[in-house]
Parts: sequence; C-alpha cells; structure tokens
Amino acid sequence: MSFNIAIDGPAGAGKSTAAKNAAKELGFLYVDTGAMYRTIALYLLRNQVAIEDEDALERALEKISVTLSYENGMQHMFLNGEDVSGLIRTQEVSDMASRSSARPAVRKKLLDLQRDLAAREDVLMDGRDIGTAILPNADLKIFLTASSGERARRRYLELKEKGETASLSEIQKEIEERDYRDTHRETSPLRQAEDAVLLDSSDLNLEEVVERIVSLAKERMQ
Ligand code: DC
Repeated sequence: MSFNIAIDGPAGAGKSTAAKNAAKELGFLYVDTGAMYRTIALYLLRNQVAIEDEDALERALEKISVTLSYENGMQHMFLNGEDVSGLIRTQEVSDMASRSSARPAVRKKLLDLQRDLAAREDVLMDGRDIGTAILPNADLKIFLTASSGERARRRYLELKEKGETASLSEIQKEIEERDYRDTHRETSPLRQAEDAVLLDSSDLNLEEVVERIVSLAKERMQ
C-alpha cells in the first residue's frame, strides 16, 4: 500500500515549494495538481474554447490528453505529447485555470489521473480538493494557508526580484478574488477537510514549514 499525503490550501501560501522540498526529504513523489489544471487551461486558451458552453467544453476535453513525467525529480506536463511545463505559469493561464477548474467536466477529467498516481506511489499531492475529494483516505492531510496580506507580500517580492513592477494592493486584490472563486465554486470548493491538520505559514519561513510537514508525516508513518 502506498502512503499518501494531501496538501491543500489557497494560492500563494507557499504550498508548492514547501511540498516539493518535503517530498524530496521523505523520498515521496511530489504531484502538483495545479499544473494539471493549468495544462488543460492552456489548451482552452489556445483554442478559444467557450468554457461556459458545456458541449463545447466536453468536445474540447475529448481532444485533450494530459500526461506527466519526472525528470530529475521535476514534474513535467505534457499536453497531447507537447512538453508545456514552461508555458503554464503565465497570469493568463492562472486565470483560465481558476475559471475552468470550477467546471465539473474538467475536474472529472483529472480525477483518475490523480487517483492512479496515488494508488501506485507514495505521493505528496498538492492542490485544492485532494484531502476532501480526490484522496479522502489519505494517510495525512494538511491544510496550508497564510493571510492574504502575507501571500500578497510574498508574491510582490517574487515579482520585484524578477525585475517586474507590481502594485501590492493590486496583487492582494487579485489573490482575494481568486480565493473567492476557489472557495465558492459548486464543485469541490477549496475547504479544509475535517481531519486535516491546519498549518498557517504567515509567520513561518520555508524551512520551518517543510520541517513541520516532514515531522507530521514521520509521526503518521510509525
Ligand atoms: O495551484 P495553482 O495556482 O497552480 O492552481 C491553478 C488553479 O487550479 C487554481 O485556480 C485552482 C485550481 N486547482 C484546483 O481547482 N484543484 C486542484 N487540485 C489544484 C488546482
């Protein structure tokens, strides 16, 4: 039996970096499910699919194959065989991923891919509904969050480091809008599973978050 860790939480809580590092330390496969939604979003954008039109969306989804592979521990996403890992981190793709992930057909498409991976391997899977919908029997569930102000500040510093200009208040507004969409959608909204451990990273640095995840996992594995 594989050991499964589910980490859910809002955008910008530092989930992916912390989850990646914790998975490495534990020798687990890190699965970034947001990247899967982003891969579908890229297709929908490229093909200008009207996602509110159920038939059009279903037709488009039939033409999409989402696969992944790992190279040096890095997750690569493939859209119909094309490695799109470098193309799915734009703001445009983020927005489309947030909107299209609210559509039940999109979520259904990724369900088996996510469950199959978890059944085969020891995974640390990060997303929004892993503990509540995808892996309800996960061995450990963590809900990782941080205040919207702190998440905006981190994102602002990240952009500044890249030499991009940004407005802190604008970023905070975008984060709060995305949170609203992710927590209020009908299908699998973002929420803490009842049996999840709440981890608030507002006052923790990356190492401290990783340490906490690893020690929780080790406790459960005993
Ligand atoms: O974690 P991320 O920013 O890469 O996720 C992109 C979008 O996909 C985000 O708006 C929420 C959505 N998502 C989801 O609905 N369910 C998941 N398990 C992972 C991501």
